[in-house]
Order: sequence, then structure tokens, then C-alpha cells
Amino acid sequence: MKKKLFITRKFPAQFVEPLEEHYDIEQWEEEETVIPRAKLLAAVANCEVLWVTIADQVDEELLSHAPNLKLVTNLAVGFNNIDVPALRKRGIMATNTPGVLTNTTADLVFGLLLATARRIPESERYLREGKWQSWYPMQLVGKDVSGATIGIIGMGRIGQAVARRAKGFDMKVLYHNRRRRHEAEEMYGFCYASLEELLTKSDFVVIMTPYNKDTVGLIGAKELALMQEDAVLINASRGGIIDENALYNTLKNGKLWAAGLDVFEQEPVALDHPLLTLPNVVVLPHIGSASLKTRTAMLMLNVNALMAYGQGKPLSNRID
Ligand code: GLV
Repeated sequence: MKKKLFITRKFPAQFVEPLEEHYDIEQWEEEETVIPRAKLLAAVANCEVLWVTIADQVDEELLSHAPNLKLVTNLAVGFNNIDVPALRKRGIMATNTPGVLTNTTADLVFGLLLATARRIPESERYLREGKWQSWYPMQLVGKDVSGATIGIIGMGRIGQAVARRAKGFDMKVLYHNRRRRHEAEEMYGFCYASLEELLTKSDFVVIMTPYNKDTVGLIGAKELALMQEDAVLINASRGGIIDENALYNTLKNGKLWAAGLDVFEQEPVALDHPLLTLPNVVVLPHIGSASLKTRTAMLMLNVNALMAYGQGKPLSNRID
């Protein structure tokens, strides 16, 4: 008897078809929209395996509707959408996609940092809106990235990849992390700093820490007030790490120079969100890992976990 697999999104057929060998598959038939919660709760009623995206909350409520669930595989490295202790309590396994998106995400973080510092989206709007009349010295002047100090909060795989890119721009790298990264300090000259010191001394603060109970609202009004008035804040981790109201007020009052955000507390972000009214905020729709090669590799890690489970083999990349 084949196992029942539910997929919460329409994924490209090339990743789904090989699974038919082991699974009876049902999937939400839309690629771009999230499955409505009530439909998801109904769909998991008899499934043994669930393949989800970060838009799907796998929590107590969902688990209480899924008595046969044995495995959840998540198309992301971050797994704040999954209540891991609740899974553990029920002996349900879960996997994610670490490693394969490190460089792609670090590239995007650096792109966002450059775009924010050099006002690239604002400059493009200026040209397209017909505002470009001549060249003049103080036109669209931004901040230098080369030689500046970058402070990275969260020095995991992606944080370290961002830091290595920063070295290429002759930046001084400060970092804050639960654990010291002695090897990276010795090899690249990265400097450990307390959160306060990092916020006070950095021209660019980049958030790369995972989202969990210790990092919810980590950057609030008090922390933003420690930053220099001409500093830039970049977040490509998870929206809830920053208090968005506090960020809006800080920017509005001219107490911070700009922010670059790939992630938001609520995604997709509402078009009337106050942060979107500010010209010095660069916004992206959570595209950190969005290259064809990387998204393919992420899907393949999930497929491999599903194939291994189907064949009764041990699973890699477990998070439970
Ligand atoms: C994307 O945000 C991920 O966690 O992979």
C-alpha cells in the first residue's frame, strides 16, 4: 500500500512525479496561492507525510487534525512555521533544506545592502518617472559600502557567507552570535561584539539570526536608538525579529538612514504598510534563496527525504 502524501502547493511536476512510486499524492492545485487553512486541515486528516512551504503553519491545531502524520518536510532552511516540540511529542519527523541556499541568500543580502546604500531602486524610479534633467553633484548620493563597518547579528552559515563577501569590500566585520566563531575570527579577522556594541559601532547592521522565541522583537525601539543616525538596517531572515512599528518611527524621525527588507512580520506585506511609504526603505518579496539552481536544490533535498522515507531509509537534514 502506498503512503498518503499531501503537498501544500503545486510544485513543478519533475519533482512530484518520481514520488508516485511510493506515494498516493494529493496537492493544492495552485502555484502562487497559499492553501486556505480549512482546506489544509481537512487535507491532512489521513495523510502520513506532508510537504510544506514557509507559508503553512504546522502547529498543535494542524497536528490535532492529522492523527496519521509521520513526516513533515519543509521547503526552507528556516523552520519557525513548524512547532518542533509539538512534533517531537508525537514522534513525527521533520526535515528542512540547509546548506544549499547559503551562497544564494548571502548574494541577495549583499545586493539588498548595496541597493539600499546606493539608493538603486529609488534611482531607477527617478529615471523612469522622467525626473532626470541633468547630472549634479548631490544627486541621489548614497552611502559608501567599501571600507564601512558591517555588524552581522547571527553568524550561522549565511551570516558567515555575508561576512566573507564584506571582506571583499574591505569592510570591518563585527558579529554577534550565541557562540563565538573562533575559527572565522582567526581566518578572516571577524570581531565578536556584544549586541549593544555592534549596534552602536556599525554602519550597516545585517540580521541573519534564526527566528525563535529568543529573537522575536530582538530589534525594537531601544536597540534602534543605539544605532547611528546614518546607519542602515538590513533584514533577510524573518520579519518578526524587528519591531516594524519601532523601525517605521525611527526612520520617520530621521534617526536611521535607511532599511532594506526582504522579509516582513506578515507576508505578503500589505501595500499600505507604513514602511512602504518611506522612500529610504528598499523592499523585496522574500527572495533570499530565489535562484533557479538553489530552488531546484532545495526541492531536491525535500524529494530525497521523501524518497528515503518511502524506501524506509534514514533521513538527512532532520530538525525534530
Ligand atoms: C527561506 O526563508 C528559508 O528559510 O529557506
